[in-house]
Amino acid sequence: MAPTKPAARPDNARFSSGPCAKPPTFVLDQLADAPLGRSHRASVGKSKLKAAIDLTREILGVPADYRIGIVPASDTGAVEMAMWSMLGARPCTMIAWESFGAEWVTDVVKQLRLDATVLKAGYGEIVDLTQVDFDTDVVFTWNGTTSGVRLPNGDAIPVTRAGLTICDATSAAFAQDLPWDKLDVTTFSWQKVMGGEAAHGMLILSPRAVERLESYTPAWPLPKIFRLTKGGKLIEGIFVGETINTPSMLAVEDYLVALAWGKSVGGLPGLMARADANAKAIFDFCEARDWIDNLAIDPATRSNTSVCLKFTDPRITDGAAFAKSVAKRLESEGVALDIGAYRDAPPGLRIWCGATVETADIEAMLPWLDWAFVVEIEALAQAA
Ligand SMILES: Cc1ncc(COP(=O)(O)O)c(C=O)c1O
Repeated sequence: MAPTKPAARPDNARFSSGPCAKPPTFVLDQLADAPLGRSHRASVGKSKLKAAIDLTREILGVPADYRIGIVPASDTGAVEMAMWSMLGARPCTMIAWESFGAEWVTDVVKQLRLDATVLKAGYGEIVDLTQVDFDTDVVFTWNGTTSGVRLPNGDAIPVTRAGLTICDATSAAFAQDLPWDKLDVTTFSWQKVMGGEAAHGMLILSPRAVERLESYTPAWPLPKIFRLTKGGKLIEGIFVGETINTPSMLAVEDYLVALAWGKSVGGLPGLMARADANAKAIFDFCEARDWIDNLAIDPATRSNTSVCLKFTDPRITDGAAFAKSVAKRLESEGVALDIGAYRDAPPGLRIWCGATVETADIEAMLPWLDWAFVVEIEALAQAA
């Protein structure tokens, strides 16, 4: 007999891991002040870009002597411009425990062709950072979006180190505490925890990263889109809103709206608490069931943004097909959109829990997961 459908539905079923849900108070009218059709180099455009940088600094608590720039090509652009501009000066260690980290390994090993030390862990696991030589340059992803495994803290990174740390914090920034004294290059994009629009990347540089830029010229050519220096000096304008090329002023306005919302919910502590509460609702759900589990093996490494789940019921023989059917069923009911695991990740679900998601929506969605699981298990039994 088909199980009864839950009575309640989430108000917002958008649990995609990027672009992520807009802030709950978002309406398009909030973008009315965007200086559309105006030059980003006019004072109105420049002041919006600078406000985006200043508010980012304020909310994330970025030290005053760190530069923050808005750069092209989203997080990928920010990570790649940092790697292309800074790596090669000293030995380098590439760390990956899911597919985005693995992409940066490919960049460095296959494209830049550096003889890097590569440390990898499988989905659900993490690389032990205490084994890493931080006198080398180290590239890593703080929160592995496709495995739901994150660094619990930066304790293993020494404050005094000869190498630079380059950290892809796309799905961590605004939801997890980032220790600025341990990070020389930090990148993220707007469409994740803040629910902004895609296109632009944020590049945060420590004074040591700037020193590297000003003292080292890579052996390979750098396209204009990657160039952060001119005549051996940092192009300071990039870090006050004079972008390398044309930004979307609509996307900038949208980010400003998201940042204002972030402040209204208590700034960084408030944003982190929202993600924590969302993730906890899912952790508790899994704890109470013997057919679903977190992909992250060590509870300390469980992401509070990209929560990845695996089905563990022994009756499931084709894990990928089962997870796909569950995700499809939830999507067709309109209760959970885009929650299938990432294409390169093990079969399962990935439910975004970043700050823009309401805990009440997670709580309203989870009974539907119970329902879809039973429906799919019964379908398996009937097919057998
Ligand atoms: C950890 C991580 N790095 C990089 C990216 C790519 O980001 P973008 O599409 O903003 O370049 C993503 C996107 O999901 C990500 O999660």
